[in-house]
Amino acid sequence: MTDNVVQAAYIVSAVLFVLSLAGLSKHEKAKEGNAFGIAGMVIALVATLWLSASRSENALVTILLVLVAMAVGGSIGLWRARVVEMTQMPELVAMLHSFVGLAAVLVGFNSFAEGGEAGTGETIHLVEVFLGVFIGAVTFTGSIVAFLKLSARIKSSPLMLPARHWLNLAALVVSAGLLVWFVVSGSIVPLLVMTVIALAFGWHLVASIGGGDMPVVVSMLNSYSGWAAAAAGFMLGNDLLIVTGALVGSSGAILSYIMCRAMNRSFFSVIAGGFGQEVAVGADTDYGEHRETTAEDVAELLRDASSVVITPGYGMAVAQAQYPVAELTSQLRKKGVNVRFGIHPVAGRLPGHMNVLLAEAKVPYDIVLEMDEVNDDFPDTDVVLVIGANDTVNPSASEEPSSPIAGMPVLEVWKARNVVVFKRSMATGYAGVQNPLFFKENSAMLFGDAKERVEDIIKAL
Ligand code: TAP
Repeated sequence: MTDNVVQAAYIVSAVLFVLSLAGLSKHEKAKEGNAFGIAGMVIALVATLWLSASRSENALVTILLVLVAMAVGGSIGLWRARVVEMTQMPELVAMLHSFVGLAAVLVGFNSFAEGGEAGTGETIHLVEVFLGVFIGAVTFTGSIVAFLKLSARIKSSPLMLPARHWLNLAALVVSAGLLVWFVVSGSIVPLLVMTVIALAFGWHLVASIGGGDMPVVVSMLNSYSGWAAAAAGFMLGNDLLIVTGALVGSSGAILSYIMCRAMNRSFFSVIAGGFGQEVAVGADTDYGEHRETTAEDVAELLRDASSVVITPGYGMAVAQAQYPVAELTSQLRKKGVNVRFGIHPVAGRLPGHMNVLLAEAKVPYDIVLEMDEVNDDFPDTDVVLVIGANDTVNPSASEEPSSPIAGMPVLEVWKARNVVVFKRSMATGYAGVQNPLFFKENSAMLFGDAKERVEDIIKAL
């Protein structure tokens, strides 16, 4: 009886999760999608708690233990979610993925210790354990490296070990051999050896990927964490965990694929740790002198302009400049200037980062355009304001084949009549490469905090 009710509850949760994903794919329905997700998760938690209580000898102790664990985990989660800055979101997500990976490893070892049924059931069980631990271990260390890179605790440039692709291949081949040994012998030794190899493999895979490709890595690890959860679902015989894991795994994979296409990267090359990408890192080129400007001069430029495009980036998020930017936009629009925003698919540090900030500051949706919608308009644009963006407006992506970001589509802002770049220094962006845009004749640098500078322009206007 309990089992039937729980299975029914799991089906309702699974449907709610699907509705949640469908809702989250559109701005207007995102809140509704979140509500479906929360409802699904509440039902799933209550059902699981009930199931474990009904199966245990001392239901009260079981429920109490789970509640204590949930209270501790939940409080830490709530605290982190409240204090985290929007700009630190990707690193938080990367860290959370590492927990899913670790959980899958622990569930795998626990499931191995408990043993499966005899006969074919045991073989299937051992394969589940092996794959679950493998995917979990790769996700665990891969996510830790992603966390360290995103939070700038380690350098974001790719680690280039000699014969690195052979090392990856060797790790896979040896693990496959260990799987056979494990299934035949049922011994813990091959499982332990594989765990060590998988931990090193996950670390190396993400360490080999350069900063510019990190967005894809984060969504790829999201996908891996889903498969790790699905593997844990198989080991625990929990259907909802299998469905949820598969939803996360496949949506993460689809997102990675979409991002790869948007950035003109080969999906296989990125998931295989930068396979086939040989780039010259840090080539020093002399691009000449840059020109500085002032807020008053920019106000003057804007006064005479009839079309303006604003291309925001990570720096706008750091400076929290979206509010004065929205104010400037509305002032210019009142004067009849055609103002639009050009959003690069990986501007900022997470997908949709700029859209969220601009929506927060109440910039109308219809003037926020995607890169492809605005790229052809730059030659007819009087002024482009590049607010805290760098890699996403870097011409070397199309002009320098040896650049680490070569081939990535960018906002072609340099084709406009005037470009003003808001940043604090001549430092490089996330991918660590110099930007020749800053040295072009029609470009001028407006140094300082983006929020303060935009406010200065509003005053001058
Ligand atoms: P970036 O290339 O990171 O450049 C941001 C610029 O903002 C920096 O050059 C920095 O220059 C400036 N800045 C920082 N704080 C500022 C402040 N308070 N006021 C004014 N300027 C400030 O940003 P982007 O163009 O948005 O490109 C995104 C990069 O992040 C890409 O390489 C992308 O691959 C990567 N990435 C994206 C994601 C996703 S999914 N969107 C996830 C991870 C990584 P100063 O230091 O000189 O001020």
